[in-house]
Amino acid sequence: MSQPTIESILQEKRLFNPPPAFSQQATIKTLEEYEQLYQRAQADPQTFWAELAQKELHWFEKWHTVLDWQPPFAQWFVGGKLNISYNCLDRHLLTWRRNKAALIWEGEPGDSRTYTYAQLHREVCQFANGLKQLGVQKGDVVGIYMPMIPEAAIAMLACARIGAPHTVVFGGFSAEALRDRLNDGKAKLVITADGGWRKDAIVPLKAQVDNALANGAVPSIEQVLVVARTQQPIEMQPGRDHWWHDLRQGVSADCPAEPMDSEAMLFILYTSGSTGKPKGVVHTTGGYNLYTHMTMKWVFDIQDTDVYWCTADVGWITGHSYIVYGPLSNGATSLMYEGAPRASNPGCFWDVIEKYGVNTFYTAPTAIRAFIRMGEHLPKARDLSSLRLLGTVGEPINPEAWMWYYRVIGNEQCPIVDTWWQTETGGHMLTPLPGAIATKPGSATRPFPGIIADVVDLAGNTVPAGEGGYLVIKHPWPGMMRTVYGDPDRFRRSYWEHIPPIDGQAVYFAGDGARKDEDGYFWVMGRVDDVISVSGHRLGTMEIESALVSHAAVAEAAVVGRPDEVKGEDIVAFVTLEGNYTPSEELIKTLKQHVVNEIGALARPSEIRFSDALPKTRSGKIMRRLLRSLASGEEVSGDTSTLEDRSVLDKLREGS
Ligand code: WT7
Repeated sequence: MSQPTIESILQEKRLFNPPPAFSQQATIKTLEEYEQLYQRAQADPQTFWAELAQKELHWFEKWHTVLDWQPPFAQWFVGGKLNISYNCLDRHLLTWRRNKAALIWEGEPGDSRTYTYAQLHREVCQFANGLKQLGVQKGDVVGIYMPMIPEAAIAMLACARIGAPHTVVFGGFSAEALRDRLNDGKAKLVITADGGWRKDAIVPLKAQVDNALANGAVPSIEQVLVVARTQQPIEMQPGRDHWWHDLRQGVSADCPAEPMDSEAMLFILYTSGSTGKPKGVVHTTGGYNLYTHMTMKWVFDIQDTDVYWCTADVGWITGHSYIVYGPLSNGATSLMYEGAPRASNPGCFWDVIEKYGVNTFYTAPTAIRAFIRMGEHLPKARDLSSLRLLGTVGEPINPEAWMWYYRVIGNEQCPIVDTWWQTETGGHMLTPLPGAIATKPGSATRPFPGIIADVVDLAGNTVPAGEGGYLVIKHPWPGMMRTVYGDPDRFRRSYWEHIPPIDGQAVYFAGDGARKDEDGYFWVMGRVDDVISVSGHRLGTMEIESALVSHAAVAEAAVVGRPDEVKGEDIVAFVTLEGNYTPSEELIKTLKQHVVNEIGALARPSEIRFSDALPKTRSGKIMRRLLRSLASGEEVSGDTSTLEDRSVLDKLREGS
C-alpha cells in the first residue's frame, strides 16, 4: 500500500448553497435537519436504522435482532423476512403508483418502451416462473450477461423474487472474464441476449456465452436463456439454450414473492482488487434494500413527479443500486438508456433529457470531461430546463469539470451531488443531501446519516484537517458487503486488516486516500492501492498483468495508470519478453488484443513498452512508483536507493 500523496493544500474555496427553491421542496430541507439525523444515527445506529426499516420497507416477518456484529461479519435485521422484488413492485400495486411509469427505456437505434409498475410486475412474475420452469430454485446462482434492455432489470428482479442470487457480468467483459465469474459463482443458468447495441455496433453476447461455456468450461451451467434483441443469427444448442419468447408462451404471470431471510444473499458482483483475481462482493437482502432505498430517497431527493436517469450500466453496482433497486423500491420512474455518446451522435444524452423531461441526471466525471471536449453547443441546442438535480459518481471530479456541469448542464440552478461509494458499500457513503448541504466543487462533502467516516494514518489515528490519510468507516452500516463469495478470509484481509481497530472497533478500509478540511468536508483523492480507474471503470493492475503474462511471448509485466484528461487514467504496460521473442509493432497489437480477449475492451492498454528488465527492489518487488513516473514522462524523483539494479532505470528512461 502506498502513501496517499497530497498534491496541493486545499485551494478550492467556492461554496454553493442549496438553491432555496430546491430546499423548500426537499425531503431534508436544512443543514440542521441533516445534522439532527446524523447525530441521532451516530448516538444510536440500531434504533435509527430499525425505525427506517419498519417505516420504509414491507416485511413478511419482523426481525428479532437489528444488528449482529462479529467483526468483520455483520448481520442486519436478523430473523426478518422480506423480498426486495416485493418492495420494488408489489407494494406499489396497492397504491396509485400501479399505473405510474416504473421503467422508461430508450433503446438503440430509436426503440423505446415504458413499463408501468403493474406491467413490470407482470413481466417479472412471468420471467420468474420461466426461470423456475428451467429448474432454477431458491439459492441457485444465476448469471446475467445482458445489454441495457429492460429484460436485464426484469431478470434481476425475477431472480430476487424467487430467491436465486444473481451475478451480473457487464456486457463489455470478454468470454474469458465471463467464464471465470460464472465458475467462481457456480452459476446454474445464464441469461443473455442474442446481441446488444454498443456505439453503432452489435456486441455478440450469445456468441461470447458460447465461448465461455465451450468444452464444458463452466460445469455448473445447465441452461442458457436468450432474449431476442438484435436479431442477428446465433447458434442455439438444443437442450441447453432457450429463447425467452418461446419459453414465455403459456408461462403463468402469477408468482408470489418468496419470503427471504434478511441475510439471504441477494447478489454477487465481481470487482477488481489489488490482486489478480476479481472479488465476488456479496450483498444480502434486507440491509441492501434499506440502504439503497434511503440513499435514493435522501440523496436524490426522489419525488413522485421525477423522471430520474442514471447513465450507468446495470453490470456495475451503480446500475444495481440506482437504476434498479433504489429507484423502484421508492416507487420512482427510472430511465434506462441503451446508447452512449459517440461520434455519430455526440448529443444523444441531451436528446434523451429533452425527450423525457429528465429531472435528475446521474453520470460519471469521465463522461462530463468528454462532454466538455465535445463542446457546449451540443447541450445548449437542447432544452434541459427540466433538470433539477445533477449527480456524479465513480472517481474524483476535478473542480473545472464540476463547474462546467453546474453552469452548462445545470444552468446554475441544480445542486450537484458528488457521491463517493463503492461496489462494497452498496450505496452512497459520502455525499451532499442536496437540499441541506452546501457543496464545494470536487468534494463529496459529508457522510450519509449512519456513516461514521474518518481520515486516519496507518496506526488508525485521525489526521489533522487538510492532511492526507486513509478513508475509513468506523461502524457497520446496512448496505455493507457481507463477505467475498467463497472466501471470508479474503474479505477480512482485503478490507479490515490494513488499519488496526480504533477504540476497540474494527474499521473498514477499501483503498481510497482522502483528506478532510476545516469544515469537516471530505475530499477523496483516489486509490492508494494497485487499482486504477479508466473512464470510471475500476481495474486491478495485477489483473491486467496476469492477462499479459498468460501470453506466450511475455515473461514479466507491470501495469500502471497514467493520468489522462478525459479517462482519468489510461493503462501503460511495461513488458519483458521471453527469449525467443523480439519487440515489434505487430507484437504490441497482438498483446493489446490479448488483454481484450482475456478481460474486455475496457482493459486495453493504451501503450505497451518493452524492456529488458523491470525495476525491482532487492526483495524482488516491482517499483511501480518509478514506472508511474516514467509512464507519465515525469522526472523520477524520490528514494531509489532500494532499487536493485540502477541501470534498469536508466535503460527504461532511454527507451521512453
Ligand atoms: C471506487 C469504487 C460506486 C459506484 C461506482 C464505482 C472511486 C467512486 C467516487 C467519488 C471520488 C470515487 C473510489 C472508489 N469513486 N465514487 N464520488 N469521488 N472517487 O464503484 O467500481 O466499486 O469503484 O471508485 O476510488 O474506491 P467501484
